[in-house]
Amino acid sequence: MSIEVRRPLMAANWKMHLSIAEGVSFIAKLHELVGTPRDREVLIAPPYTHLWPLREPMAAAGFSLAAQNCHWEAQGAYTGEVSLAMLAETGCRYVIVGHSERRHIFGESDAWIGRKTAAALSRGVVPIVCIGEKIEEREAGLTEQVLRRQLTAGLEGISLDTPEPLVIAYEPVWAIGTGRTATPNQAQEAHAFVREWLADRFDKAVAKGIRILYGGSVKPDNVDDLMAQPDIDGALVGGASLEAASFARIVQYQRSGKSP
Ligand code: 13P
Repeated sequence: MSIEVRRPLMAANWKMHLSIAEGVSFIAKLHELVGTPRDREVLIAPPYTHLWPLREPMAAAGFSLAAQNCHWEAQGAYTGEVSLAMLAETGCRYVIVGHSERRHIFGESDAWIGRKTAAALSRGVVPIVCIGEKIEEREAGLTEQVLRRQLTAGLEGISLDTPEPLVIAYEPVWAIGTGRTATPNQAQEAHAFVREWLADRFDKAVAKGIRILYGGSVKPDNVDDLMAQPDIDGALVGGASLEAASFARIVQYQRSGKSP
């Protein structure tokens, strides 16, 4: 399997923003601006309440729907939680797991994230497993150690015969919502480390096919340089994904130096 099989994944994480009506017009506008690209995948992760009403416009536009979180149990007394079967029923093909805001604001542990990843895989929903170091960890030279720990726990017990069922997102915590992006070289270095780790953990050919997204202050003016890096296979975008024209430019990144 070669690098060329990694179809770039351009993902919007709306977090707790936009109304359902705003979401519907966003999708129409984005579709008008980018069409349904064949050489890259467009994904939107809206709030839970938007999933069902947005599933039809998303499907009609050829975009992929994702949830921002999930619970690992199939059902039960878990007030406020949503299961993977429920998400699949709303048309979700993907689920974001272990976002740094879940880890740091809501106290999610590495072990929980591992359970969510395994549950998503077993339900046929593709987990986008987020990892990333804090600024003090980077400054102390602990970036690789943190990524290794998060990957080990986040992917515990899972096996893969093909790369498609898994996506990793490297989101350095210090770059999220701060306007401070990792340089293309810093991001590439972390992505190459992740891919090597994946090659040790899974089959080499499988690791080569797993998409690794970069997230953290991705904007229209830095996406081209980030996407030119050999191990960056897409972007997970927060702030700049809330406005259709800005996200459209990100989706339409220029292929300087690398063909998707
Ligand atoms: P920003 O693009 O706002 O930095 O957010 C990144 C992010 O957390 C995407 O999941």
